[in-house]
Amino acid sequence: MPKIRIGLIGYGGIGRVHAAAYRAIPFHYGLPANSISIAGVATTRSETAEAAAAEIGCDFHTDDYRALLARDDIDAVDICTPNNSHHEIALAAAAAGKHIYCEKPLAMNVAEAMSMAEAVEAARVKAQMTFNFRFFPAITRAKQLLEAGFVGRIFSFRGRYHRSSYISSDKPMSWRLRREITGGGALFDLGSHILDLLYYLLGDFAAVNATLDTLIKERPIAADSSETAPVDVDDIAFLHARLPSGALGTVEISRMGTGATNDLSFEIFGDQGALRFDLAEPAWLHVYDTRDADVPLGGRRGFRKIEAVGRYRGQRAPDWTMSPDFMRVHAECQYQFIRAIQDDAPTAPSFVDGLHIQRIMDAAERSSECGAWVRIESAG
Ligand SMILES: NC(=O)c1ccc[n+]([C@@H]2O[C@H](COP(=O)([O-])OP(=O)(O)OC[C@H]3O[C@@H](n4cnc5c(N)ncnc54)[C@H](O)[C@@H]3O)[C@@H](O)[C@H]2O)c1
Repeated sequence: MPKIRIGLIGYGGIGRVHAAAYRAIPFHYGLPANSISIAGVATTRSETAEAAAAEIGCDFHTDDYRALLARDDIDAVDICTPNNSHHEIALAAAAAGKHIYCEKPLAMNVAEAMSMAEAVEAARVKAQMTFNFRFFPAITRAKQLLEAGFVGRIFSFRGRYHRSSYISSDKPMSWRLRREITGGGALFDLGSHILDLLYYLLGDFAAVNATLDTLIKERPIAADSSETAPVDVDDIAFLHARLPSGALGTVEISRMGTGATNDLSFEIFGDQGALRFDLAEPAWLHVYDTRDADVPLGGRRGFRKIEAVGRYRGQRAPDWTMSPDFMRVHAECQYQFIRAIQDDAPTAPSFVDGLHIQRIMDAAERSSECGAWVRIESAG
């Protein structure tokens, strides 16, 4: 397989996540370490670019993304910058013949998005969006079931993406609250995700009837500042939607969902069956089949959970049965070990903890043999 060398443009919240994910790919799919590499990184300031390169472990860094595009050792760029720069960077990347992986939303408006789609087509480069939620195995399974006609004629659907990220009026302004940089508010930021999931599963939307609002209209210009600035994007967007088939849906998008940490879910109702997905439980797809017998006493009818878990095609590690966060908890466990070495601090879980578990297992075996309670020494 030819090696792919990435130029990462933008290294904020999501740039870091992309960098970590590229590094993980060889482990997930059993590939040589150098089959995917980040060859360079660009941010807006040379100090942040240098710090990013140090984190990533790449030699090249720049405060001008065009310097990345000029390099022969970069095959593809990954655009992780605020929304108002996607168009300019994508057009320049296409002109430079680089493949493009671009964060959502694609652009600030339809005109920009159209010219980006045309540019990558004309340049014959590969261009992909980061609609990452599509890639939960449960979503892949939902797509297969819908394509196989499992739910039958779709009556209606309901999508929601609520977060609580902006409920405090003290939260200061940021680029996500400025239309000139973000293009749109919750609708663009969160809405692009849930709308893409519904579009991926159900196809084109034919029409919408929406209400958008800004519940907190002024915010401090910076943390602890008494000066405020107007918020000119929505923080809540409720849509009624209609598909070409006539199926009706609602989509709720909000940054003002108190208690809704990252609350994405959808339901699809058809005349033969129904599907439900909830990001809080991403290992499972909930399905309902009207063809299940409902006698006696309900038979086996009812929503049930399909164990999609971690079934990624071609994955070598981790094992498919592991929950989606399995790699993350290993990283945390290792990080605690490394910090204990660096800080000369006690480890946890320690060998003493391991010893106590060993004693419990030993006692269980002996208890099973003798048929009696076996006492266990305290770990302390
Ligand atoms: N898919 C997801 O789950 C997800 C999650 C968060 C953000 N995003 C998207 O990712 C993008 C970035 O969001 P973020 O939260 O990482 O932003 P951020 O503000 O944390 O980071 C932005 C980065 O882009 C850099 N940058 C800005 N303009 C640049 C330019 N012209 N050239 C080079 N670098 C530039 C900044 O220096 C910074 O490193 C947005 O489009 C956002 O919608 C997607």
